[in-house]
Amino acid sequence: MTALSRLLNGCPLLPIIQTETPQQAVDIAAALAQGGVSAVEVVLRTPKALDAISAIRSALPSVLVGAGTVLNAAQAQDCKDAGAQFLVSPASTPALLQAMIDTGLPLAPGVSTVSEMAMAHEMGLNELKFFPANLSGGTPMLNAVRSILQQVRFCPTGGISAANLTEYLSLPNVFVVGGSWLTPADLVKAGDYTAITALTAESVRLANVCLAEKSAPLRKSA
Ligand code: 3PG
Repeated sequence: MTALSRLLNGCPLLPIIQTETPQQAVDIAAALAQGGVSAVEVVLRTPKALDAISAIRSALPSVLVGAGTVLNAAQAQDCKDAGAQFLVSPASTPALLQAMIDTGLPLAPGVSTVSEMAMAHEMGLNELKFFPANLSGGTPMLNAVRSILQQVRFCPTGGISAANLTEYLSLPNVFVVGGSWLTPADLVKAGDYTAITALTAESVRLANVCLAEKSAPLRKSA
């Protein structure tokens, strides 16, 4: 199984798309891509989510499309059948983890406690979604687990915004940050894709500055 971080290939932001129609999903994904992100997560919280995944795959072949809010084995398979290139869940149970693993897709199952992290790690999963990040201890929690679970890296989501994304991304055990701050419901409802592109471009800029510093720690301290 390819690791999610490998698939994302350095893309530091993973915006969520919650959509009512496949066309709206394509328009949001195009606006996000225009702003500089190369991967999106369509959440299974609306009836058309699976169609939205397929629509983005065919309309925007250069954008990586994953499925989020996967909660059971049937959904994991449905997402794969719809064309999802990776899977994200908000929670972890042994059955859900096994079902996600069985799809063969890159994945980031959701965890918020050390025991859940250890369970996922025990099943061979070392890239996990930390959710809800802001309510589960935030960056101090991620720092605290670093020395315990040395191979595990995280995609924090839940309360991430332009104001705190660099705090998370600068941690050595964070490979991407995700969430809905780039696709706020009011902008989606208004069809204001220009504003979504602008929000995205600003967060991409912040992320890139942060990653440049992260990859050059010696230069920084010199
Ligand atoms: C998720 O599914 O990861 C969360 O809904 C993201 O949380 P946020 O809406 O606070 O970004």
